[in-house]
Order: sequence, then structure tokens, then C-alpha cells
Amino acid sequence: MTDDAQHTGRTIMEISRREGLAMLAGLAASACGSDGSANAAPIGAAPVPAPSPTPTASPTSAVLDPASLQSVAAAKGMRIGSCFAWSERNADRGSFANPDYARLLTRDCGILVPENELKWQAIRPSATRFDFGKFDAMIDWADANALPVRAHNLLWHQPKWMPAWAESYDFGANPQREAERLLAEHIETVCKRYGSRIRSYDVVNEAVNPADGALYQTALSRALGGAEPTLDLAFRTARAAAPGAQLVYNDYMSWEPGNANHRAGVLKLLGGFKKRGVPVDALGVQSHLVTQGIDARATATALTGEWRRFLDAVTAMGYGLVITELDVRDNRLPADVAVRDRAVADFTQAYLDVMFSYPAVRDVLLWGMSDRYSWIEGFEPRSDGVRRRPCPYDDAFVAKPMRAAIAAAVAAAPARS
Ligand code: G3I
Repeated sequence: MTDDAQHTGRTIMEISRREGLAMLAGLAASACGSDGSANAAPIGAAPVPAPSPTPTASPTSAVLDPASLQSVAAAKGMRIGSCFAWSERNADRGSFANPDYARLLTRDCGILVPENELKWQAIRPSATRFDFGKFDAMIDWADANALPVRAHNLLWHQPKWMPAWAESYDFGANPQREAERLLAEHIETVCKRYGSRIRSYDVVNEAVNPADGALYQTALSRALGGAEPTLDLAFRTARAAAPGAQLVYNDYMSWEPGNANHRAGVLKLLGGFKKRGVPVDALGVQSHLVTQGIDARATATALTGEWRRFLDAVTAMGYGLVITELDVRDNRLPADVAVRDRAVADFTQAYLDVMFSYPAVRDVLLWGMSDRYSWIEGFEPRSDGVRRRPCPYDDAFVAKPMRAAIAAAVAAAPARS
């Protein structure tokens, strides 16, 4: 029986301590209202341990299913994780409050990241208000399950991803000073609220236009005096507010054809940070992969040279690397599920083989554990109308060849010191 079959054929008796906690925590934490106010926990539920101010146990010390992705990763000094979401209790979402999905998270993950609930559009209903209700419930559940959480993101520097009010905001008589205040207040408020519970931040997300490598502008950056000073201030403020945290610039430049300008723009931005002494620790390589055809390994081989030149340039500047949003858009593949899953798995493993050859890669986060909740289906459905299959588990939470491919790539990776 393959690892995956064992994985999906487990009985209730094999539920680990962490999974038992997850069920209880999910019940209690999801009883919270969207403002984070804890309603009475369901009658009969055992009290969920109050989340500690910082995760007391690392994933390696929790009871890990030996067949889990995190167990394989921990043996190499790495962590495997995923994004997760907030929802009302038991909703059919990629949420911790969905017991079946929570089981995937607690079984396979050693680190989590909020898909949407810490973005400006989620926590800033106005210039004068913050709403942390959803993310508070998420990080409380993660703490209760010994799962560290990384933050995404402190600034998604594009007009369409800022709250509507931010693009029409009146920066007053001294726009630079007000823009600096608004940005610094946001970052300091988030970082000080969670303290050492969060040890890695996507400080800036997707600030480079993939078409020409130029930096996007927003109303905030126009008021503040330009995109560079805006991004620099974001990182300097984050360093001061979260001195122990890893500060990441996160973007989706990738190895597929058509990414050359994007890669060049990111290299230019990273070089500028270094020249100006801006505290950026790592590049977040989102890794939203796109298959190029049925012979996945051949296309991967063709893409590797240029991609290694990019990664070599990034690491030569002293940056770390974090795989932050791994999933695979199954393009140019037939509808047949077995054929498509095999090609996606081969493409994933070939990509991770390259990435794991860089000792700087320690954390690998998927952008969702199950096809059922992937953003891609709504973003770019397949032209033949069959559902996308971008994640390690399918719509019914059955493990796919992609999961085994990830485990194989991690098992083959050199151990991190
Ligand atoms: O929560 C509201 C809901 O109240 C409302 O009824 C509904 C309809 O308008 O929208 C809901 O918000 C949606 C949100 O996802 C939560 O589902 C937003 O419209 C929608 O734009 C948002 O999409 C997310 C997207 O980022 C934009 O924030 C995707 O789920 C998320 O997977 C995607 O993730 C991004 C990363 O943050 C950055 N890298 C690329 C990645 C994929 O695009």
C-alpha cells in the first residue's frame, strides 16, 4: 500500500494528539463571532487550552503522524505548511473551522499562513479602524495546535489590492508626513498586536509589474514620495516593530516562459534594498506553477537554467528563500485525471528538486491543501471546463500523486544545518 493509501486509509484510532486538539479547538475557536468575541463553547466540549502568547511547542515536538509531510520535512530541518482561512463554524471552506480541512492542516503542516484575513482589505475597514476578529480566531486555533503562523501581508502595493478608501484618501497639507504615519501605524499595530507569535512577515507583496519590471504606484506612494521610499519605510518599520521576525519580499515571478521582465524587476528591487541598507531578509518565491505540456520533466529541464541564474543572483546578494504559495495550474494537459495528476506531480517534484538544492529554502507553504478550495478555479478555469487539480489533496480530501511528489522531493533534499 503506498504512503498515500496508508494516509487516506487511516482509522479513527490513529488520530494524533494534534488532530484531537484540532477538533476541540476548531469547535471552540469557530464558536467565535467574526469580531473574535468568544461565544459560549458548545455544551460538552472539553475546554481548549488557552493559547500561549507564543507557540510553546514546535511542530517537531507535537505528536506527528510519521507519514505526514511535516514529519518528512522535520527530518530535514524544514517545514511544510499551507494557507488557511477563517469561516463560520463547519463551513465548506479551507478553514480551521471545517473539521475535515483542519485535519489536513494538523496532520501534514508545520506552519500556516492566512490566505486573506491579514490583508489591508480584510483588517482595515477605514483609515481609523482595524478589525482583527477573523485572524485572531485563526492564530488562536493555530497556537492551540502548536502550529506557527507566518503573516501575509503588511502591504500589497497595488491600487487594486489596497482598500478603496486608501486610493481616495485625503493626505492633507503635508501628504508625505501623513502617508508615512498611515503606513507606519498599520505595520506597528499589526506587529505589536501579535508580537513573537509571528516570526515571519510578507512585509511587501507583489510590488513589481511583471510586464516591465517597474514598481507599481498607489495613492499612498504618490503621497509619500514614490514607490521605493514607501517599500523601504515598510521594511524599516517592520524591523523596528518586530525585531526578531524574518522580513520577506513576496512575489510570483516564476520559471515559466514570459517571466523574464518580472524576474529582472525583482532583482533590481532586491539590489536596491541592499544598496540602501533596507532590512529585507528573504525573497518569498510564491511558486504558482503552470505546467507547459504533458512531458513535465522535459519542460522542467528546459526551464531550469534561467531559473537557477535568477536564484543564484538572489542568494548571492545574501537573501534567504521561502516557498510561500505553492500550487500548480494544470495547463496544456488532457482532462484525464490520472494523466493530469501524474504530470502535475512530476512538474512539482522537478521544481522542488531545483529549489531544495538551495540550502536557504527551509519553509515550503502550499496555497491550499485541497483542490476544493483553490483560488485558481475562480481565477482561471480550464478551457475544457474540467475542474482544476492544483493541490496535494483532491476535492474529497484524498491524497494525490502531487502529495507523494512533495514528500519525495523533501526526502531527497539535503538536510538543512
Ligand atoms: O470575504 C468576501 C465576502 O464577504 C464577499 O461576499 C465575497 C464576494 O465579493 O468576497 C470575499 O472576499 C474575497 C476573498 O478572496 C475571500 O474569499 C475577495 O473578493 C477575493 O478577491 C479574495 O481573493 C483572494 C486573492 O488573493 C485576493 O486577495 C484569494 O482568495 C487568494 O487565494 C489570493 O491569494 C493571492 C495572495 O494573497 C498573493 N499571491 C497570489 C495569490 C493568488 O492570487
